[in-house]
Amino acid sequence: METPIYDFLKKYEQEPKLRLHMPGHKGKSPAEISFAYDITEINGADSLFEADGIIAQSEKNASALFKTKMTCYSAGGSTLCIQTMLALAKFEKRSIIAVRNVHRSFLSACALLDIQPQWIYPDYRAGFLSGEITAEAVEKELKNTSNACVYITSPDYLGKTADIKAIAEVCHRYDAILLVDNAHGAHTAGTENHPIIQGADMCCDSAHKMLPCLTGGAYLHINYEKYISRAKQTMSLFASTSPSYLIMASLDLCNDYIENQLQSDTAEVVNALEKLRKKISGQYKVYSSEPFHLTLLCNGIDLAEQLREKHVECEYADKYCIVLLFSPKNTAREIEILTMLLMLCEPKPALSDTAIEFPHIERKMSIREAVMSESETINVNDADGRICAMVNVPCPPAVPIAVSGEVINKNLIKIFKNYGISVVNVIK
Ligand SMILES: Cc1ncc(COP(=O)(O)O)c(C=O)c1O
Repeated sequence: METPIYDFLKKYEQEPKLRLHMPGHKGKSPAEISFAYDITEINGADSLFEADGIIAQSEKNASALFKTKMTCYSAGGSTLCIQTMLALAKFEKRSIIAVRNVHRSFLSACALLDIQPQWIYPDYRAGFLSGEITAEAVEKELKNTSNACVYITSPDYLGKTADIKAIAEVCHRYDAILLVDNAHGAHTAGTENHPIIQGADMCCDSAHKMLPCLTGGAYLHINYEKYISRAKQTMSLFASTSPSYLIMASLDLCNDYIENQLQSDTAEVVNALEKLRKKISGQYKVYSSEPFHLTLLCNGIDLAEQLREKHVECEYADKYCIVLLFSPKNTAREIEILTMLLMLCEPKPALSDTAIEFPHIERKMSIREAVMSESETINVNDADGRICAMVNVPCPPAVPIAVSGEVINKNLIKIFKNYGISVVNVIK
């Protein structure tokens, strides 16, 4: 029998490559984790959703590191944490206000839980689905919404961050809670840049994206007392009943890494990246972002190809940008080499820099209703006036253009096409 997946991985592992993509371990194993470690809830081990043994102990260690009231492990990525956060807010009958640059996992959770968010649009100024979120915009929405829950994504896929401290302050002034999708920010563990320290009530960290953790490993952090007793039970609503011990072990090892090595590794990488940004500034337009996301505004597809020839694999590339994703597991030496390689490349201009605008979008049905309806897939050119069924996102960054239940218009068709989306799923 052919083994195409294994063969691909084996080949990729054997090629010398600078991995500027997820996961955050960059292929460097922190310890021997083998098939022999892959167990279930045997005698002496623990059970993730009824933890009172080794898992509970390890989660307590994580909670101390992140300075939270409670931290739960997820072997289903931030996706599971987002489902849990939204379910907890829904139990309290809170209205969900969300900044529109959400990841598709938020939309799936809305469909599962029958949530219809009130949207705040970020300032999508750079011509792609990433932009500024302000505390003022959040306050404007909160003035008209009682018993609210605000949901923001920071950093977003391109590394753009929001002023969480200011947004948290506004939320708490209006008795709202703040949920942060920090899938891209786990490397700020325990520091003043982490959403929990900045005042978020709950947040999710994809440890696997930015820290040395196996894919699927994430932390759900809770600082809102009222949700603690129901957190585990709520998580189990959506999760597999067989959470991977390998993933949990790698979260356990991640705790040790955070305590003993994260700070010095971060200092080394941030310092090297600062030098890189300075060195390349004459040749590249750099999108303002948190340090570990290096987003260059150019024809990303072309640059990704040039870098691939030089044995560098990026996280993401499109006609507007390229994302080179670092983690504390990269080294100063790797970044020096990349600096040299970037200087040898010839970036071509981005193919378009027209601002993305979302003038009024009409909604005909709820996200859940649209997702559950009979649908068909049609050419995007024929979609004017049709209602979006399953959400179509450019993946990555997996941020919605039209959300399920919304009427697709000419402007949205233009954005779909700019992102290379040629077919859309609409209600029949
Ligand atoms: C911004 C953002 N949020 C959430 C997720 C989902 O995270 P996970 O893959 O850990 O489930 C992703 C995944 O890429 C993401 O980019």
